[in-house]
Amino acid sequence: MLSDQRHVRTQRRLQYGPRVNITIRGYRPGDAEATWRAFHEAIHRTAASYYSEEQMKAWAPGVMDAQGWNARRTQAWTVVADVDGEVAGFSDLTADGLLDMLFVHPEFGRRGVGRLLVEAVLKEAQRRGLNEVRTHASRAARPAFERLGFIVDHENEDNWIRGQKVPNFDMYVALAP
Ligand SMILES: CC(C)(COP(=O)(O)OP(=O)(O)OC[C@H]1O[C@@H](n2cnc3c(N)ncnc32)[C@H](O)[C@@H]1OP(=O)(O)O)[C@@H](O)C(=O)NCCC(=O)NCCS
Repeated sequence: MLSDQRHVRTQRRLQYGPRVNITIRGYRPGDAEATWRAFHEAIHRTAASYYSEEQMKAWAPGVMDAQGWNARRTQAWTVVADVDGEVAGFSDLTADGLLDMLFVHPEFGRRGVGRLLVEAVLKEAQRRGLNEVRTHASRAARPAFERLGFIVDHENEDNWIRGQKVPNFDMYVALAP
């Protein structure tokens, strides 16, 4: 995991958003609730026009399993984006080279947070000597992943979560040697 000393700081002024300071750093156990909130809100608000209420509830139930959530975040190499000291989003890279999670709280959306998180993950993948990174991208995230260089391999029409079909896309990006 990234230590706090190895974080990346940057500052962006985007066309429509206010100036924000984004810090990318390693996940800490104290981030469990704020990262879960980013996950929950990203699904129930940002992804709301792509999936039904039933699909969103299955994907992101209203109650957090704090222990399970923290365990999954710490098992993977997880990075967190802070904006002016607040957790804005997170991403990860699993041991088998999957970018499993990418969620940005809607309050901080479209300001470059997702891009910086993915860049940090790809840098870590390159450090591990991987040739490519794969992800299961939601319908909502597909356009952002495409902007970040990912290519659709195929659609998973049969992706089931807690008894609901939640279709997504298998995408990948090749890494320079
Ligand atoms: C996908 C997500 C993480 C993107 O986060 P973000 O911080 O808003 O993304 P950024 O602002 O860094 O955008 C990255 C690039 O994608 C583009 N982009 C982002 N969302 C987009 C959209 N809905 N449509 C088209 N382009 C989009 C941005 O313009 C930017 O491109 P640029 O840097 O060349 O201008 C966020 O929208 C999200 O959490 N979505 C819902 C949850 C979800 O589906 N997560 C993925 C699960 S697999």
